[in-house]
Amino acid sequence: MSVRTPMTLASIELGAGIRNACTEGPDEVITRVKESGLRGRGGAGFPTGLKWDLARQAPAPDGRRYVICNADEGEPGTFKDRVLLEDLADLVFEGMTIAGCAIGASEGIVYLRGEYVYLQDGLEETLARRRAAGLLGAGVRGRPDFDFDISIRIGSGAYVCGEETALIESLEGRRGEPRNRLPFPVVRGLYQAPTVVNNVETFAWVAAIMARGSAWFASIGTPGSSGPKLLSVSGDVERPGVYEFPLGVSIHEVLAAAGGEDAKAVIVGGAAGQCVPRRDFGRAIAYDDVSTGGAFIVLGERRDPLDVAENFMEFFVDESCGQCTPCRIGNVTILEGVRAMRRGEMTPERLRDLVKLGHTMQAASKCGLGQCSANVFLSIVEHADVLGRELVHA
Ligand SMILES: Cc1cc2nc3c(=O)[nH]c(=O)nc-3n(C[C@H](O)[C@H](O)[C@H](O)COP(=O)(O)O)c2cc1C
Ligand code: SF4
Repeated sequence: MSVRTPMTLASIELGAGIRNACTEGPDEVITRVKESGLRGRGGAGFPTGLKWDLARQAPAPDGRRYVICNADEGEPGTFKDRVLLEDLADLVFEGMTIAGCAIGASEGIVYLRGEYVYLQDGLEETLARRRAAGLLGAGVRGRPDFDFDISIRIGSGAYVCGEETALIESLEGRRGEPRNRLPFPVVRGLYQAPTVVNNVETFAWVAAIMARGSAWFASIGTPGSSGPKLLSVSGDVERPGVYEFPLGVSIHEVLAAAGGEDAKAVIVGGAAGQCVPRRDFGRAIAYDDVSTGGAFIVLGERRDPLDVAENFMEFFVDESCGQCTPCRIGNVTILEGVRAMRRGEMTPERLRDLVKLGHTMQAASKCGLGQCSANVFLSIVEHADVLGRELVHA
């Protein structure tokens, strides 16, 4: 695989962001991040500056607040966070430290996907180097009022632990199952303290924004989707790898860069994303159009979309935590339906029921897993006319 180091992030001057943050202070950092328009790079696209502001303002009875870096990266087809942690860990840690300064936290935790445990030694070395340089620990950059350190905790390979409240449960030593909201983690998160959870890439862009300025970042992309975005491009392409594009880039342009112009369809957003057929390749990768945490999976002419749907539904049946009925039962029922389609045994009535079930799962599941697990199936049904696959046989 020809993985490429993200060019803009690799060119950011290390230390400049944290220097500016320490000079300017929390209010200015939050204002800058808000002005940049940065939205979370983990998938949901929540405005980062607003999240930090809420955590800063939430009461913290014992004064504790937490910064968590979500490095669980379990979405099938996503590998950009691994590349960032391998090549640009300093920048990610710098973004976390800036978050600590902004919300008034003294503890940061990287929740690292179990399969990435081989990265741990290198990350610990980077942390030790930063402590020795006064960039972590007591009195960061000589500021007596700012103590901040980062530790690494390893997950155990459950996809649902990427969901921020399940992640927090797991960090507290319990089974990784999503919590009820309210309250949101920014109000009561880890050990009931105000907690910011952000994606690895989000922290890297924060360091870039604090180094180069919010106007620079906001000038890239589109008004509602500012800045560059990393995409993990895989599947039927000549040059798979990690690519950086301004948000607003068309699917056509991504395919041209990766050598996948002949694609029949792409799955954007991973197993929880959507299937976009060739006729829609003019659409944009952006929060208000085709949104993604980073996965961009290309389906070539000979790829059977039902193979993909079956593979994804098997994944969700395995990964559902089983807490709520729409997800626990719905994923199994849709998987059985996809298998029936592959055997040529689908009736129009049963397909109608499956689509209805998919919509119920979107509306009634407790967390993003069940709310999104039917998405690829539903989009394949929606675009069946151009995907070259008959779904109904009777
Ligand atoms: C099932 C599930 C898995 C998730 N996995 C991840 C993940 O691996 N990494 C991630 O950053 N966000 C993941 N998320 C989203 C997080 O809950 C959360 O929105 C995100 O970490 C917030 O960071 P951001 O605002 O910087 O994007 C997942 C969500 C769900 C529902
Ligand atoms: S939607 Fe699925 S993963 Fe989420 S809480 Fe319900 S059963 Fe668990």
